Amino acid sequence: MTPISDPTYANPLCDTDRLTQELGYDNSRKIIAVANQKGGVGKTTTTINLATALAAVGRKILIIDSDSQGNASTGLGIAPSDRRQTTYDLLTRGASAVVPMATSIPGLSIIPATVDLSGAEIELVDIPDRHALLKTALDELAGDYDLVLIDCPPALGLLTLNALVAADEVLVPLQCEFFALEGLSMLLNTVERVCQAYNPDLTVSGIVLTMYDKRNRLSREVVDDVRRVMGDKVYQTVIPRNVRVSEAPSYGKPVMLHAFHSSGAQAYVHLAGEMLRREAAQRHVLQGAA
Ligand SMILES: Nc1ncnc2c1ncn2[C@@H]1O[C@H](COP(=O)(O)OP(=O)(O)O)[C@@H](O)[C@H]1O
Ligand SMILES: [Mg+2]
Repeated sequence: MTPISDPTYANPLCDTDRLTQELGYDNSRKIIAVANQKGGVGKTTTTINLATALAAVGRKILIIDSDSQGNASTGLGIAPSDRRQTTYDLLTRGASAVVPMATSIPGLSIIPATVDLSGAEIELVDIPDRHALLKTALDELAGDYDLVLIDCPPALGLLTLNALVAADEVLVPLQCEFFALEGLSMLLNTVERVCQAYNPDLTVSGIVLTMYDKRNRLSREVVDDVRRVMGDKVYQTVIPRNVRVSEAPSYGKPVMLHAFHSSGAQAYVHLAGEMLRREAAQRHVLQGAA
């Protein structure tokens, strides 16, 4: 696990910046679905903070808020009254109906969500290719971005299916609690089925353990268990439970802007660095094979 007291954390953004220079720039467009059918495991928090960390090192990022609760939109300070073109419009009317909104973070845009999205599952039920609506829209939109992160709702319904069909990779946040692994096999089965039916290149890129409490023996046991079962799919960086993370959305800011030096913010910067390293390693393998 990454020790949060590690002195290299002193200026984590610079560290990520240096990393990008060291590892080179990956200009391949990528779409990542942040998914777990459980609620409250850190999907939205991970989406917002990874996006912020990667935007800070020059990547052009788009967040698709695909949860009718609109927490990603709120967490980035987009008031409900300002959400005029939303993920609902994107799904029902296509890419031409939506211009992504800029956020206060340079390089980070979002397509926000409102409660309208809760009706989409039912309204779209008779549409042929209803599983591929987001993919079709992103085929048009995603070229403008280095990375698209889809913040999925807490269910394996049509919205998550659309995210998995559109995505290259799935990132799974798992909360460090007793039932962490429960439900993971159902999610992995769903990914497998989507892979077979619609999206053969879809992979689970990683699992990120969230809300880790170092004083809690159970938290430590969960980390060991998940690593034993899922091996190197699990990111080394573990996100600690940190009050700054939980209060940040009420300020409409990612924790990295709300409390940059908090353990939660620094862990997310470290996670972004680990993602960049993995990406670079993968690229080298691919280049070696070519
Ligand atoms: N590392 C953390 N430490 C403390 N609170 C957290 C942390 N990560 C998430 N939270 C809080 O837990 C709740 C659920 O997180 P969220 O990211 O919204 O989960 P999900 O999107 O999976 O439902 C939110 O109130 C969020 O602020
Ligand atoms: Mg959420």
